[in-house]
Amino acid sequence: ESVSPTVCGMPLKYVSLVILAVQNAALSIVMHYSRVSIPPSLAYSPASAVLLNELLKGSISFVIALARTREVADLSWGRMTLWEIMCSLPYPGSAPFWTLCGEIFSPDCWKLSIPAILYVVQNSLQFVAISNLPVASFQVTYQMKILTTAAFSVALLRKKLSTTKWLSLFFLAIGVGIVQIQTSSVAAPKNQSVGSAHDSAPLHIHVMSPLKGFGAVTAACFTSGLAGVYFEMVLKNSKADLWVRNIQLSLFSLIPAFLPILYTSNPASAGFFSGLLKNFGIWAWATVAIQVIGGLVTAVVIKYSDNILKGFATSLSIVISFLASVVLFDFHLTPSFVIGASTVLCATWMYNQPPGKEPLVSIVLTGQ
Ligand code: C5P
Repeated sequence: ESVSPTVCGMPLKYVSLVILAVQNAALSIVMHYSRVSIPPSLAYSPASAVLLNELLKGSISFVIALARTREVADLSWGRMTLWEIMCSLPYPGSAPFWTLCGEIFSPDCWKLSIPAILYVVQNSLQFVAISNLPVASFQVTYQMKILTTAAFSVALLRKKLSTTKWLSLFFLAIGVGIVQIQTSSVAAPKNQSVGSAHDSAPLHIHVMSPLKGFGAVTAACFTSGLAGVYFEMVLKNSKADLWVRNIQLSLFSLIPAFLPILYTSNPASAGFFSGLLKNFGIWAWATVAIQVIGGLVTAVVIKYSDNILKGFATSLSIVISFLASVVLFDFHLTPSFVIGASTVLCATWMYNQPPGKEPLVSIVLTGQ
């Protein structure tokens, strides 16, 4: 674990975790609103949003990696304006610039192609899921990625899980199941808009399909688990800089992110680029911006904290988005939702307990 720098006197480790919790909650809400508040004919393209996310994240990672070649990161950021920082960066064609390019196109860069494809698929599935589920249901079900991450960690990283951790994963699955049952029952009348029944905020009728939403979120949990574990494997088996790895990840993401766009429009045609940004309003841009921040903060969390603390931040984000959904979308908390969500939160907390500090429930149930 690296020594964490400070931001305004606070360790970056904790600052990044808090930002990730707020970012997770904000993304679900803003992305959901950006999809359901607009009639389908005026909807922006999720494929363009995924592509923009990768372009922006890769560019910012490149600037940070360039800054690190001049050790600008060690200077006092607080006393420099953004312009001064930009001016102090190595110019294109300079020796540090070419050194960085050499690092980016290193012989082992292909390893990032696998998590890159998986993350693009995951980011696309997220749009399908959030467009078809109420925000809180999406957040809770998305916690299943703890389960897939554990399974892939055991299979690929040969990690050993304690009985308490397996038990908490079992509770997690039960909790998600309870939430799923209650959401499906809301969707019972066929073709009725769950958006209008569940979320009072949408200005237009947006027909949600919870089955499609749950299918997408389940698939996203698998890609999240596999991509996360694979990224961890690549990071731990080499000394390459995290930001260089991030650039490689974004570069490989561009190919699968471009494919669905090329499938629907011809890049040689006039208006191709304006078509990419068609219907991109304030909420679409806000969604992309929050996703970019999330990608960068995830990288910082992986570097200065660990996946256990990342799990805490995610579970905290559920509470934040629950409260926000009640206020913003008039989300009604049903008893089964509260029971399911509480089970998920307790399971997440139990999973994150360090060895030797297991909660009483697991000691009683497992006899350990
Ligand atoms: O939910 P999960 O933690 O799997 O989401 C990870 C998100 O962070 C994905 O959207 C992925 O594109 C992004 N990410 C990133 N850079 C990394 C790791 C993840 O942009 N190094």
